[in-house]
Amino acid sequence: MSIEIRPFKPEDLDEVYAIERRSFLWPWSRGVFIHFYRVTPHLFLVAIADGRVIGYVMGEMEEDDGVKVGHVVNIAVHEAYRRRGIGTQLMREIERIFRELGAEKVRLEVREGNEGAKAFYRHLGYRETGMLKRYYWGLTALKMEKSLSDER
Ligand SMILES: CC(C)(COP(=O)(O)OP(=O)(O)OC[C@H]1O[C@@H](n2cnc3c(N)ncnc32)[C@H](O)[C@@H]1OP(=O)(O)O)[C@@H](O)C(=O)NCCC(=O)NCCS
Repeated sequence: MSIEIRPFKPEDLDEVYAIERRSFLWPWSRGVFIHFYRVTPHLFLVAIADGRVIGYVMGEMEEDDGVKVGHVVNIAVHEAYRRRGIGTQLMREIERIFRELGAEKVRLEVREGNEGAKAFYRHLGYRETGMLKRYYWGLTALKMEKSLSDER
């Protein structure tokens, strides 16, 4: 299966949003996707296969005491296309862009009970760095991080 990874376009919104609603108990609103497209269009990527959107990843750049950090804020792959390396390709591409923008590391949060996503991030080299109580509507999140410097 050939996959293209490219920046999100407004006409992708319905397909992206359909994946979001099927992937999360508390999906974001459509407005949040539009917001990210307006503010950080270069960090909102979609995966295309068979002429349709099958996954997406969104991020933002942050700074901690002068150190640039990439923050992955959302990722999902259509359930019919999971475990085929598409999430990995989306993460590799956003990590590449973060690196290009000068990030030294990448961080993200994952709901404590989301075992599939935790395994996915560990597989990609992310390590747990702490917990955030009541992060997701009262549920605990794990903070995870990965250094980009080893891969330069
Ligand atoms: C998490 C998610 C994006 C992973 O996407 P994906 O395309 O299926 O991931 P990949 O195929 O690239 O997985 C790479 C590796 O990660 C690990 N992995 C991925 N999903 C896993 C799961 N559900 N359980 C255990 N390990 C998993 C495996 O080691 C996998 O390699 P393998 O298939 O050869 O065993 C996808 O499951 C998803 O959309 N989940 C719902 C939304 C979500 O929870 N997003 C994360 C929010 S923090």
